[in-house]
Amino acid sequence: MRFEQSEALKRLPEQFFASLVGKTQALKREGHDVINLGQGNPDQPTPDNIVKAMQQAAENPDYHKYSPFRGHSFLKEAVAKFYKREHGVDVDPETEVAVLFGTKTGLVEVSQCLLNAGDSALLPDPGYPDYMSGIALADAKPHFFPLLEKNHFLPDYDAISDEALDLSKLMFLNYPNNPTSAVATREFFDETVNVAKKHDICVVHDFAYGAIGFDGKKPTSFLESEGAKDVGIEMYTLSKTYNMAGWRVGFAVGNPSVIESLNLIQDHLYVSLFGALQEAAAEALLGDQSAVDELVETYETRRNALVKAAQSVGWDVTAPKGTFFAWFKVPDGFTSEEFADLLLNEAHVVVAPGKGFGETGEGYVRIGLLDEPERLKEAMERIGRLGVFGK
Ligand SMILES: Cc1ncc(COP(=O)(O)O)c(C=O)c1O
Repeated sequence: MRFEQSEALKRLPEQFFASLVGKTQALKREGHDVINLGQGNPDQPTPDNIVKAMQQAAENPDYHKYSPFRGHSFLKEAVAKFYKREHGVDVDPETEVAVLFGTKTGLVEVSQCLLNAGDSALLPDPGYPDYMSGIALADAKPHFFPLLEKNHFLPDYDAISDEALDLSKLMFLNYPNNPTSAVATREFFDETVNVAKKHDICVVHDFAYGAIGFDGKKPTSFLESEGAKDVGIEMYTLSKTYNMAGWRVGFAVGNPSVIESLNLIQDHLYVSLFGALQEAAAEALLGDQSAVDELVETYETRRNALVKAAQSVGWDVTAPKGTFFAWFKVPDGFTSEEFADLLLNEAHVVVAPGKGFGETGEGYVRIGLLDEPERLKEAMERIGRLGVFGK
């Protein structure tokens, strides 16, 4: 028997990058030395203090039982201390923090929490694809706003119609930004709070790359803006800051009514995370942070190597300001998919075509800073040898 998928499942967007993964694997199977810069999987191990905390906590029989539904208080208190230490933001651990199974989960859940069928939500183009997944499951309508280079890849609220703003209940933002690697300013977030207040919009700021800012500039949290908690939440993942992508832990912080809704849906879906994982997550947030500084340094060194090597083969590129991605323009005469295919087939270098992140991503490719500087340099040299930059 073959059972029919629900309408909700049928509405889910296609996974644009699935075919890229397939082609990459095929080349590897053929024995080629493939440099894979196409995905967003951190390549470094989790810091030792966190792994040790997990090992020890796993032996504690208290954690072998169900965890409290909405997470252990010690983890929520750790989140509050982390926000105060890193961003000077006061957070009530019991009413303003929700523990998440990674933020991918939370980003999809929040649309189920706040949107009814037919409602509208604002989302960035290009943007992280999972925002759309939640909107599709809720049977809501997306209203995409473009992130343009001339606006430093920030939305231009004046260019969004009042009608679209008034109709929208929810807006997704993400800075430092995947895929454009742009960063946001405090002024931009202040303006966002005003727009959200005026049009009754709940802002969901995805702060996945909240620790990864270059040139000595620490990324700004949305919650640093006055009134932000009134109009929204921020989601923070441990995947990137602490190289814990496989552990599946993150949290949402901010507006108590949205936090309550996230907790409510999770009461019905899960019984919070394994207690030992919660203890390890608290160690990540409150323990020695030197590994985070080293990680940012590592990405910055890689960024510098990539940009220098790209420029030396004649690719006119702009240096990323944050995240572990570079967002480079494709040379004239190629679509982003054609260019990515050329790099894959002729240079055995995998990059993500910008179109996969939305229509406005056309004309760019995303390159992950997810290999050693020497490999990044080699990738650029291989691309340079294709002779596409008129040099
Ligand atoms: C912008 C952005 N948001 C959210 C996530 C999800 O992170 P996680 O589910 O590991 O917390 C990612 C992961 O790649 C991301 O790039």
